[in-house]
Amino acid sequence: MSQMSGERPLRIRAVTEADLEADLPLIVRLDADAFPHGPYPYFVLRQLVTACADLVYVVHDGTDLYGYVLGTAPNDAQSWVLSLAITPGLRGKGFGRRLMTKLLAQLRAKGAHSVRLSVEPRNDSAIALYRSLGFVPDPDGPHVGYFGPGEDRLLMTLTL
Ligand SMILES: CC(C)(COP(=O)(O)OP(=O)(O)OC[C@H]1O[C@@H](n2cnc3c(N)ncnc32)[C@H](O)[C@@H]1OP(=O)(O)O)[C@@H](O)C(=O)NCCC(=O)NCCS
Repeated sequence: MSQMSGERPLRIRAVTEADLEADLPLIVRLDADAFPHGPYPYFVLRQLVTACADLVYVVHDGTDLYGYVLGTAPNDAQSWVLSLAITPGLRGKGFGRRLMTKLLAQLRAKGAHSVRLSVEPRNDSAIALYRSLGFVPDPDGPHVGYFGPGEDRLLMTLTL
């Protein structure tokens, strides 16, 4: 885990192609810290960040990154949030909500009418955040084996 920034204010910005070389290793590290049992491999994040241009936001202090969110461009007016992570020492301070709010506004501007995501069914803090933003879980409950045996996921949808 990285050190918290001392005096430097934390801000949110989009990741542009020009930022990619510097940002990508930091996003990979954030992802590994947040999802130690199944982080996205470097090559997957490399392609996702490129494919989701304009839809990746980070929390930064000008030097390091402390959180990121990544969404897909709308396809038939539907987008997906594929990742959200805040560095452990900075959780519970509103940055996850701010990243999601920023991304959702951008998805709305790009024409998304609905946004889907999957979440581990026992991830209470993430589910509480998504519910508070208006996401509704699929009525049939968690999708058993969504990511393979023993890897159930709750699918949630926000109608914009
Ligand atoms: C889920 C995660 C992104 C939330 O980010 P965060 O910055 O800690 O969340 P915020 O401070 O913005 O809180 C937003 C809401 O989340 C919920 N929440 C956050 N921490 C919580 C906790 N410990 N217990 C219950 N709810 C919590 C609350 O609804 C909160 O709303 P409030 O501010 O009105 O109380 C963060 O905990 C994280 O990175 N977790 C590990 C990675 C992960 O699980 N990502 C989601 C994968 S689907």
